Amino acid sequence: MKNIKGKVAFISGAASGMGLGMARAFSAAGMKVMLGDIQKEALDAAVAELKGKGFEAEGVLVDVTDRDSVFAAAQATIDAFGKVHVCVNNAGVGASGSAEGTSEKNWRWTIDVNMWGVVWGMQAFMPLIKEHGEGGHLVNTASMAGMFSWKELSAYNASKYAVVAMSETAMAEHTDDNIGVSVLCPGVVNTNLGTSARNRGEDYGGATDSKSEEMIAMLKQGLSPDVVGQQVLEAIIDDQAYIFTDPNLRSWVETRFQRILAGYDWAEQCDALKHADQQTEINL
Ligand SMILES: NC(=O)c1ccc[n+]([C@@H]2O[C@H](COP(=O)([O-])OP(=O)(O)OC[C@H]3O[C@@H](n4cnc5c(N)ncnc54)[C@H](O)[C@@H]3O)[C@@H](O)[C@H]2O)c1
Repeated sequence: MKNIKGKVAFISGAASGMGLGMARAFSAAGMKVMLGDIQKEALDAAVAELKGKGFEAEGVLVDVTDRDSVFAAAQATIDAFGKVHVCVNNAGVGASGSAEGTSEKNWRWTIDVNMWGVVWGMQAFMPLIKEHGEGGHLVNTASMAGMFSWKELSAYNASKYAVVAMSETAMAEHTDDNIGVSVLCPGVVNTNLGTSARNRGEDYGGATDSKSEEMIAMLKQGLSPDVVGQQVLEAIIDDQAYIFTDPNLRSWVETRFQRILAGYDWAEQCDALKHADQQTEINL
């Protein structure tokens, strides 16, 4: 999207961290922004900040785990601005633990926010972006945890691999309709992700002030979320598919793919396949 001035963006998880960074960057660039979030006070403060600078910004309370709530947020965006061009499915939470060491409630919370939130966002907003024919852009916030599996982050990794998969699928589907697709894969960004449980819904055990001190300490060393907001804006203008915030983590992706390719080396010499009757060419 080369011309973003006057265009409309919806951002989920926009009351804090990277979502707020994007809202600031988008509105400073002349876009109209609908900020969606589950945390009312932080949302009100974010909208007041942007309006105070003379920007066209509105807020909508949304719980991205709830399909109806996301569709209502899409309608609120249309009611406020008439159209929507950019959808950023950014709301996310971080729960740590191995697959077996993570409670069912925390598994469901992580998957419902991080994966289903993106599904509902795409279902609610993509038809609205297609409808007006002016083109647009989808950004889904995944993580480097969607590129490489950190230990003790099983549910989070699983949710973020799903976001990468949905984004790559959408990239393949939107090659010639003037709708760009990006997947944001942050490494370490200085946000409030370490206190995600402040917004945990009742169905998942309720809100708690429990925090991951280890994660908080790590995030404090991270990039400013306002820089990420600027970077996402630049990626939308450049139609950049993968948005990496930490170029120094490139080696993690290389390491993962070296391990995967080593699996092919092994398959080429393994006994079971040597004697198998197998098609060598598969047309997809
Ligand atoms: N901070 C990092 O280092 C990092 C790294 C990789 C990926 N991410 C991802 O970036 C995204 C943004 O997180 P952040 O780091 O800015 O954290 P943050 O906690 O500062 O912001 C997340 C926002 O999402 C909102 N939210 C949580 N649950 C919600 C729900 N059910 N419905 C609507 N809104 C909800 C929160 O209220 C909050 O405003 C997340 O998807 C996260 O997984 C963060």
